[in-house]
Amino acid sequence: MLGFPIDHGVPFVAAFVAATLWAAATAAVFFEPFNVSYDHRAIIIGGNRRMLISAGIHYPRATPDMWPGLIAKSKEGGADVIQTYVFWNGHEPVRGQQYNFQGRYDLVKFAKFIGSQGLFLHLRIGPYVCAEWNFGGFPVWLRDIPGIIFRTKNKPFEDEMQRFVKKIVDLMKQEMLFSWQGGPIILLQIENEYGNIEGHFGQGGKDYVKWAADMALSLGAGVPWVMCRQTDAPETIIDSCNAFYCDGFRPNSYSKPALWTEDWNGWFASWGGRVPHRPVQDNAFAVARFFQRGGSYHNYYMFFGGTNFGRTAGGPLQTTSYDYDAPIDEYGLLTQPKWGHLKDLHAAIKLCEPALVAVDDGPQYVKLGPMQEAHIYASEFVDTSKSVSENVSICSAFLANINEQKTVTVNIFGGTYTLPPWSVSILPNCIHTAFNTAKVTSQTSIKTIKSASPSYSNATKHGHVVPYNENTLFSNKWGTFQEPIGTWGNNSFTAQGIFEHLNVTKDISDYLWYSTRLNITEEDLAFWEKEDILPILTINKTRDMVQVFVNGRLSASKVGNWIPVEQPIHLVEGSNDLVLLSETVGLQNYGAFLEKDGAGFRGEMKLSGFKNGDVNLSNFLWTYQVGLMGEHTEIYSPENQENVDWKDLEFDSVSSSFTWYKQQISSNSQSDSPIFQV
Ligand code: GAL
Repeated sequence: MLGFPIDHGVPFVAAFVAATLWAAATAAVFFEPFNVSYDHRAIIIGGNRRMLISAGIHYPRATPDMWPGLIAKSKEGGADVIQTYVFWNGHEPVRGQQYNFQGRYDLVKFAKFIGSQGLFLHLRIGPYVCAEWNFGGFPVWLRDIPGIIFRTKNKPFEDEMQRFVKKIVDLMKQEMLFSWQGGPIILLQIENEYGNIEGHFGQGGKDYVKWAADMALSLGAGVPWVMCRQTDAPETIIDSCNAFYCDGFRPNSYSKPALWTEDWNGWFASWGGRVPHRPVQDNAFAVARFFQRGGSYHNYYMFFGGTNFGRTAGGPLQTTSYDYDAPIDEYGLLTQPKWGHLKDLHAAIKLCEPALVAVDDGPQYVKLGPMQEAHIYASEFVDTSKSVSENVSICSAFLANINEQKTVTVNIFGGTYTLPPWSVSILPNCIHTAFNTAKVTSQTSIKTIKSASPSYSNATKHGHVVPYNENTLFSNKWGTFQEPIGTWGNNSFTAQGIFEHLNVTKDISDYLWYSTRLNITEEDLAFWEKEDILPILTINKTRDMVQVFVNGRLSASKVGNWIPVEQPIHLVEGSNDLVLLSETVGLQNYGAFLEKDGAGFRGEMKLSGFKNGDVNLSNFLWTYQVGLMGEHTEIYSPENQENVDWKDLEFDSVSSSFTWYKQQISSNSQSDSPIFQV
């Protein structure tokens, strides 16, 4: 899978706006320094309880030029907070030696843009993040540390985790980014949904939770820390909810507010899977119910999903697009009516904020019907049979109909209210309905994407796609370069046995070639002929993709997550080249014991169907070659494409299944005809 999403081009105006905003952003202090604390009801910002709407945006999933626009669109949509993970493997590609805080990984710049637009930041350091990000954010070098077990009580892991978390906290302090320094950071996060896997580690898991909490607090960040999905979070850390609905969530102590760190307003996509969609009516219902039942901080995971650039997508088999069906789409455009309807929802919730923060001991509850209920936030007890009288100075109410089929009319406050199925009406003054989650009145727009793809009038000549047509943007013939099958460079090596994929590649490439040679006798062939069978290549288990080449020809491609392979193959008398290409498509990003998961092949590899028993390929001499030649020589970059000899695409000449295609397109008049790879 050769997918290299290309950074979006920056039109001049956008670049100018970004530069101007950046000048503002670098002018440090964004707020009067303020303290952040919390009580059972809410996060307290500068002494005031707040109802907070947060927008999830992961900085490396956009280009820095997109950041100001994304933050502005989040703010306009009603967000008070931007939430992001911190991506360890992006920031520390080489252990302790090489750090990357540039370009898409310029976390400081991202944080400053947020502050400059007057928004807050919730920084989820992890440093395990899950996030459909390669290896859940762990650097692959972490698995090479002797004795390490990820995410449980052991010194090798704790030392590395602490070093990175401290580095980030120190960097944020140095850049004056915490609230008490006049910066935007109001909340942090340590670990991520550890509660889901804690059971695998017994006492070690429990001790690790305490260690992680103490370690985080020892760093003196001065703002509250969150652990999501962590019912045994210590008293000093706020446990929070991640789910599609969180209105029933209660933190593990009365002293903590109800926070919803991940509202899954869409979902990620996997290769070959469907493109997920969550209707905004349902999403708005979930959010309104959360605030109705006492929630106080809510984050959209994701408000902008973006793109998994380069090789950052997680696994198994997640796509390069991380659009997530989010209110802002992968390209930074509004998804309507999602964005608009949620904006209206946020405006209604904000009108209720004074009442929501005023109530200390929970809302007044009124059962309105078998599946209908009201929660009233008022300065004093309300007689709900009457219109809200003048002397109730502050009153907001949420009326919910959780019946999925029926519209219901309810009576309250001396009036009648019609509630559509599965909906919440928000009454900021306990009289008028400002918003109903099921009634979408915001703009609906349908995006049509005009692609630069050619017309396919000749598309299937001789079974090959012929992507050339003089009426299209493609002005040149397509160039092709056939990737050598197997060993191509002098950096290959030969050894006995099947080595684990990541131990060899160290994840510098998705690709690992395994080549061997076997001798077939006349008797073997005669035996197969007589029995009318073919020898069968058996691989105990493999992930994510394996391609089997016999004597230079593709004989099978298998895709899956630790699937067995049993593949009949054609061999000839004499010497036969057997080449396996093992490909990772995003390393596992979720689960316990990720350090052991690995990639490529597991268990035995053999050839069966011989007269005298199986041939054990696991004992053979194999030659290992990391990466593709085209990848190694970067033939996809404009500077290096001449490193190989490109041939014009001829209709009848595509004999290898492993071919690079090259075309030049002009994306707009100002650009320099970037290379477009397929
Ligand atoms: C959560 C996790 C996130 C992300 C999400 C699915 O469980 O915390 O990082 O993976 O699932 O998109």
